[in-house]
Amino acid sequence: MYKGIGIISIDSYVPQKVITNFDLEKIVDTTDEWIRTRTGIKKRHILDENEATSDLATKAAQRVLARANMKPQDIDCIIVATASPDMFFPSTGCIVQRNIGAVNAFAMDVSAGCAGFIYITILAAQMIASGFCKHILVIGAEGLTRFIDWEDRATCVLFGDGAGAAIMGKVAKDRGILGAYLGSNGEGADLLKLPAGGTRLPASVETVATRSHYIKMQGNEIFKYAVREMSESVIKSLASAGLTIEDLDLFVPHQANKRIIDAVAKKLGISEEKVMVNIEEYGNTSAASIPIAIGEAVEQKKLKEGMILATSAFGAGFTFGSFLMRW
Ligand code: ACO
Repeated sequence: MYKGIGIISIDSYVPQKVITNFDLEKIVDTTDEWIRTRTGIKKRHILDENEATSDLATKAAQRVLARANMKPQDIDCIIVATASPDMFFPSTGCIVQRNIGAVNAFAMDVSAGCAGFIYITILAAQMIASGFCKHILVIGAEGLTRFIDWEDRATCVLFGDGAGAAIMGKVAKDRGILGAYLGSNGEGADLLKLPAGGTRLPASVETVATRSHYIKMQGNEIFKYAVREMSESVIKSLASAGLTIEDLDLFVPHQANKRIIDAVAKKLGISEEKVMVNIEEYGNTSAASIPIAIGEAVEQKKLKEGMILATSAFGAGFTFGSFLMRW
């Protein structure tokens, strides 16, 4: 599909502050056992008081530039996938552009929930394929714990903060993006949302009193959609590349719930050793989860040159998708 266009380098940054399941036991009516068995999560990294999403994105960007041995001036475009920007405007992308001194780059945010990193990887590939850009910095960055109701045990145990950054550009002819599929289903808009603070329900004393500035989620409904759409996204992206499940060397799914990951892998017939899982350490970091997990897979030598990687995600919107990449 976009053979010869791929990820040149990848890295991540997560905040230092950690909250374990045992810490949560003291805040809401839950147990480490419930969280571990229902989600696979043991702890999550969360923003400190004086940190924001752009700080995580900036640190991930600086790390990936250093790893690639590139200068900020080499970047033509920055795209940040986030559902938890520093503020409505300016974009988190522009704040990162200033922070790292990427003076030749145009910058923007994309809001596509947990599928955000997959969306922006494909957008970036388009702009590189057309010749409009040479090097694009794609970042999945989230500070969703700022929007968590710490009195709601059904959501507060799930999310964590972090950022993963990748530099995209031309790679060897037989490497890069082999296939992709992107989808949305706005019929699911009400099942996972942050109701207040926008034009529909502007901030007021009442919206604060009704806790409407926090994430509202119907978890068990979403679970079913997530398993179906994440599996189908992989099948559709494989079809776009003329490949089969047997061709895959590593599957990096969005890390929302270990039970969702297991169900998707089972449905697709992908064996456990080919599935990247790190949810126990980070929880659901939404758009940041896939780049963080790909980076760790490279570090742990689970993803090596020449291997075929498949990603898949599902999130608020609904949004979903998958890309295949020869590393
Ligand atoms: N501790 C203890 N009990 C709990 C907790 C908790 N933290 N949370 C919920 N429960 C209870 C519920 O109250 C309920 O009790 P009841 O039977 O007495 O009513 C029981 O556990 C079962 O609740 P369910 O919601 O049915 O639990 P489920 O097995 O579905 O797990 C979960 C909940 C973990 C939220 C799961 O549904 C899930 O992971 N859903 C998908 C989340 C997701 O993928 N989101 C999309 C991405 S996020 C994004 O895009 C920003």
